[in-house]
Amino acid sequence: MESQTSDLLEKIRQQFDSAPYPRIPVDKSPKDILNLLYIHNLVTAYYLRNQKVIETKGKVILDAGCGSGWKSLVLAEANPGAKIVGVDISEESVKLARHRLEHHGFDNAEFHVVSVEDLPKLDYKFDYISCDELLYLFPDPIVALRAMKAVLKPDGIIRSNLHSSIQRFDLFRAQKVFTIMGLMDDNPQELEIEAVKEIMKALKDNTNLKAATWSPIYEGEDSEETILMNYLFQGDKGYTITDMFAALKGADLEFVSMVNWRQWNLMNLFKDANNLPTLLALGLPETSIEEQLQLFELLHPIHRLLDFWCGHPNQGKAFMPVTEWTKSEWEEVQVHLHPQLLTEKFKKDLIGCVTEIKAFSISEHLVLTEMPVSIDSSMAFCLVPLLDAPQTMMSLVELWKKIRPVHPVTLEPTDTEQAFHLVQQLLMRLESCGYVLLEKVF
Ligand SMILES: C[S@@+](CC[C@H](N)C(=O)[O-])C[C@H]1O[C@@H](n2cnc3c(N)ncnc32)[C@H](O)[C@@H]1O
Repeated sequence: MESQTSDLLEKIRQQFDSAPYPRIPVDKSPKDILNLLYIHNLVTAYYLRNQKVIETKGKVILDAGCGSGWKSLVLAEANPGAKIVGVDISEESVKLARHRLEHHGFDNAEFHVVSVEDLPKLDYKFDYISCDELLYLFPDPIVALRAMKAVLKPDGIIRSNLHSSIQRFDLFRAQKVFTIMGLMDDNPQELEIEAVKEIMKALKDNTNLKAATWSPIYEGEDSEETILMNYLFQGDKGYTITDMFAALKGADLEFVSMVNWRQWNLMNLFKDANNLPTLLALGLPETSIEEQLQLFELLHPIHRLLDFWCGHPNQGKAFMPVTEWTKSEWEEVQVHLHPQLLTEKFKKDLIGCVTEIKAFSISEHLVLTEMPVSIDSSMAFCLVPLLDAPQTMMSLVELWKKIRPVHPVTLEPTDTEQAFHLVQQLLMRLESCGYVLLEKVF
């Protein structure tokens, strides 16, 4: 099994020592970028795997291949009270990462110049490992996955990703072109970046490679990093869903979910998901998650990254989907707003909409689905007590009855059954989108 050969590792190290990634100013904060915080929040992945809401305080999180520390900062912001450990082979990147976290006041963070393969040398076991935009640089991702697995706690979760060979096919062709031209022989820097710009601009616009890959972003002021990370990326490789599952199997890890799972839904590719051709209608329910993702990838390869969560095998808690719960199970439910929504802006908007009887557009705060998600103001008030603390299902039902004591048409007293049904419908919808987390507490 191949690890990063010392020659390739050195090339990669040089590339990131001279250009630590990403080049985001140290004082920029991700505090308001809820979409980014949401996927870096351990709560999101842990709930998907176990249907349980986890406390982030005291957890130990690894940023494997932390680069300039932007994602380490995102992990720190998204997981209050967690300790952040970052590693990278590039010393310059590690220095920047350390400085970034200090600048934002996170004193429970540490950074080391250590390769992912040497992780077991650090004396830590992790609750969560984020290995973002690195796995594809290994000649064999199994090596890196095994090293991470060795330092993962039994119920810990790893997030990692691979470049898609299908979506990125044209850029891999471009990398080959520039390799043949000698631009990747040494560490590509300004000279090589300029050469790429010159060559691409000199090509006729309808040259296939130019038409498929070139865009104005490569000519703007901040184009250096994008050219380096696309046209001149040392060690970059592409993978398919089949490769991804084979790597997980090779490392004895269990697939949990795609990170952007709603954008991998095969059903969304059909005009009418309720009226599928017979062959598909009969066959799809029988296909494995791997086959469904594979079909999606072949039909619609729009995702640059195959971005996934995984963990030790057989550690996830078995649970029934919310849609299959019985009434008595629902009665025992504890309702949480996803912690990433607990911001001052969210609170102000929600209370404003409920007070002024306006629809509450929850997806304006956090985009989790393709279609916007809005809640009628007569239901949105159910979310207000969740701003302070999780609530039981029955307390929300009682709240509904208090605010709507009579039926708006018949003026008959609201019965519990009716209130229960409406609150349940709202919670099922919001849970399926990822805005609320429903935990069975018995
Ligand atoms: C594309 S950057 C990603 C940085 C960061 N994870 C992010 O997403 O913003 C890849 C990083 O992985 C680091 N790297 C490459 N091979 C590595 C290895 N074997 N162990 C640790 N870090 C490595 C590089 O130095 C670089 O900083």
